[in-house]
Order: sequence, then C-alpha cells, then structure tokens
Amino acid sequence: MEFYDNYEFGMPLKEIEANLEHWEKTILGASTFQELERLKADIIGRSGVVTSAFKLLKDVSVDKKKELGEKLNKVKSAIEDTIAQQHQKLANYAVSERLKNETLDITLPVENDHFGGLHIITQALRKIRDYYSARGFLVLDGPEIETEFYNFDALNIPKHHPARQSQDTFYLKGHDGMLLRTQTSCVQIRAMQKYGVPLRMVSIGKTYRNDQLDATHSPMFHQIEGLVVDKNPINIGHLKSELRKFLEFFFETDSATVRFRPSFFPFTEPGMEFDCRYTKKDGRLIISSDGDKWIELGGAGMVHPNVFKNCGVGEGAYGFAFGLGLDRIIMLKYGITDIRNLFDTDQRWLRYYGTCA
Ligand code: PHE
Repeated sequence: MEFYDNYEFGMPLKEIEANLEHWEKTILGASTFQELERLKADIIGRSGVVTSAFKLLKDVSVDKKKELGEKLNKVKSAIEDTIAQQHQKLANYAVSERLKNETLDITLPVENDHFGGLHIITQALRKIRDYYSARGFLVLDGPEIETEFYNFDALNIPKHHPARQSQDTFYLKGHDGMLLRTQTSCVQIRAMQKYGVPLRMVSIGKTYRNDQLDATHSPMFHQIEGLVVDKNPINIGHLKSELRKFLEFFFETDSATVRFRPSFFPFTEPGMEFDCRYTKKDGRLIISSDGDKWIELGGAGMVHPNVFKNCGVGEGAYGFAFGLGLDRIIMLKYGITDIRNLFDTDQRWLRYYGTCA
C-alpha cells in the first residue's frame, strides 16, 4: 500500500500536509477554550486525523517510514505550537476582559464594618502602659531572646536553681546560654544598667516557659514588671500602695485591698506574693475592699543587694519590684476561664471581646 498517495481509511498524508494551513487558521480563529479543545481532539487527539495517520505507518515499508514519520511529526508539532499560541491569546484575553468588567468601585459602601481591631491583650497592654507613663514611669521593652546572664545570673538566681532546667526554660539550640526569657524581670537589669538610680520603670511583654498548654497554662504568656529604685529609702509601704493604685486602676474599682504573704524570689529580700480582696457578683469576680475572699495576683519584694551589685549600681540604693501576669488579670477582669481563648483565633470570641475581625 502506498501510504502517501493511496490512503484508504483516512486522510492521505498529502491532504494532511495540504490541510495544515487551513487547520492553523481555524485554530487561530477559535474564540473559546472549548472550541480550542475540540480542534485539538479532532486533529492531534487520541483518534484525531494526524494520530490515525501515525497508526498506519506500521504498514509502510521501512525506507519510507522514516520520511513519512518525519513529515507527520512536523505537522503535529506545528499544530501543537499553534494551539499553545492560541491558548495563550485566549488566556490573556480572559484576564483583560475580567479586568475590564470587574473594576473595583472603591466608593461603594462596605458590607460590614468589621475592619479588624486590637486584641484584648494589646488593648490592656496599652492602657497599662499609658497609666504608668502618665505617672512618670519609663515604659521599657527588652528582648524576648535573652542570655542566661539577664534572665538568671544578674537576678541572683543560682546556677543549680530548678527554674534553669530545660523542663522550665526554652534554650536555643546551638546558641549556648541563649534562651527565651522566662520572666520580664530581666528588663529590670537592663534598665538599671542603662539608667542607673533613681529609676521608675515598667515593662510589659511576652515570656516563655516550657509548660503544657491547658486552661490555665500557656508556654507563651505576658508579664508586667515594675521597678522603683532610689537613693532615698523606699520601703514595703511604697510597694503596697503602688500595687493598690494599679489594681484600682486596672479593675476599675474605688478601693482595692492588698495583702502580702512571705515568699521567696532570689532577686528580692524580703520577697512576697500579693493577694487582693474580691467578691463574686453574678458569677463574676469583683475586685473590691469589701470582698471577703483573697485572690493571688503576683510576686513582689524589695530589690536584693546582689541585684544592685550585678547591675553596677553602687551602695545605698533602695527599691522594690513587682511582677504579675497580664493574661491572668485580663482573665479575672473579663471572666475568661480558659487562657487558650486568648491565643487561638476564634472570630466570634474575638468579636465578643471587642476585637473586630
Ligand atoms: N519574675 C517573677 C516571676 O516570674 C515575679 C516577680 C517580679 C517577683 C518582681 C518579684 C519581683 O515569678
């Protein structure tokens, strides 16, 4: 059988070659992707004309096979190129059409007024920052990645102290002596080194401990740190009144009552924990001097002489420091019982607590 001239079951190659120009024109005239797909199937698809011609090559003599095969391949790749070219053209056209039709009218009113907002923690943090700043405190930041010196050594925390162990502290792999700060007390040290005495400062920020996440623990939480140091004697009475004023401000109450319980922090002497009177009203906790119960709020104490020494502050300095959990007081104030709510991103929850999203 002479494939070239006499092609019984399909289109002879001569015709295939003769048709090439016509096909190319048709392809370039296709105005939709569907039309293009159909042409592709008809010409070079599995049972397309060109593909069928390839199948007949097996009956052609060996010397002709090469020549005819090459010719068919040329036609096939010409068709493929033209299809790709038209595909690109249609795609470009689709994009420009969309751009033409889908213009964004920025003067249209929006469907809802939730533009996003500040998280409840950020709101509280800013309020507290403003409160202290208005009262003459420096509001300072410190790094969250700290050295053992600032997080432990300078704070008079001995080398063997259990808090230093990796069950409690996140150390940075491959960076000896570097860790995620476990408390904001490191900022005390940085502040005294930089500003010396006298100094009143607060620092509010993220702290990290190797705790399992549950309703009351989070490996990342926030602390508020306060420090007041002077060359003039400062005593526990000053500390107590400072804490009372802060709690009255934060919990928006006329009078709060603070009590101290002896406790131990290596960087204080004496050290104590402080509680506050509260009462329950409609299931909510109300901080008030009228309260008949006590709730623990944080740690405090007079600055240990070793701490002064470690930051290069000379003899004759007096001061107090306190620290408390920001997340904890927010939870108490708003009746939030699960700390995880603060850090996952449930839109309904965030909206309820004033953070639009
Ligand atoms: N840094 C202490 C803690 O994380 C709290 C504290 C701060 C205690 C300042 C005393 C003075 O538990």
